[in-house]
Amino acid sequence: MSHQALRQLRALHWLPATSPNLSPPLLNWLLEEDSMTRRFEQHCQKVTVELIRESFIGAEEMAQEAEFLPADDRFWLREIVLCGDGEPWLIGRTVVPESTLNGPELMLQNLGTRPLGRYLFASSTLSRDFIDPGQVDNLWGRRSRLRLSDKPLMLTELFLPASPLYRALEQG
Ligand code: PHB
Repeated sequence: MSHQALRQLRALHWLPATSPNLSPPLLNWLLEEDSMTRRFEQHCQKVTVELIRESFIGAEEMAQEAEFLPADDRFWLREIVLCGDGEPWLIGRTVVPESTLNGPELMLQNLGTRPLGRYLFASSTLSRDFIDPGQVDNLWGRRSRLRLSDKPLMLTELFLPASPLYRALEQG
C-alpha cells in the first residue's frame, strides 16, 4: 500500500489555491492551518503514526522539494502513514535540510512514532511560507514550506481514500 501511495505523493501536481476545481469543503481541509493530527482526532478515537522510512538522503534523492530548500549535503527524510483507528488516512513526507537540524530542531530527527504536528504546533517559532493544494488521480494532497526558528523544511501530504476528507466532499 505505502509504495503505491508514495509514488502518488511524488506525482502530485500543484494547483493555485484559487483554482475553480477546489470546492469550499475541500479547501477547508487542504488549507487547514492547525495540525492535521488534531483535525483527524475529531473523526476517530485514536490517531497513530506508522513509520515508513527515516534516514538521511542526498540531494539526488529529493523529489519536488529541491527547488524550495537551500542546497545542503544531506537532508533528513521522514515518511509516515497517519492512521485513524488503524486505517491509513494520510501519507506524510518531510524533508529537512541538515542546516535546519540544530538547537531544538534536532527533535525532528527523534520523532519516531510521535506525530510531527504535535511537535511543530507546540513550537512558538513555527511559520508557514506557502501551502499548495495538489491532485493526483482521484486523490488530493498539499505541500507546505514551514519554518522553525526561521529554518525551512518541506512537508508533503497525500490524503488516502479512507480519509474523512473524502466523506466531507460526498456530503457536499
Ligand atoms: C508526521 O508525523 O510525520 C506527520 C504527522 C501528521 C501529518 C504529516 C506528517 O499531517
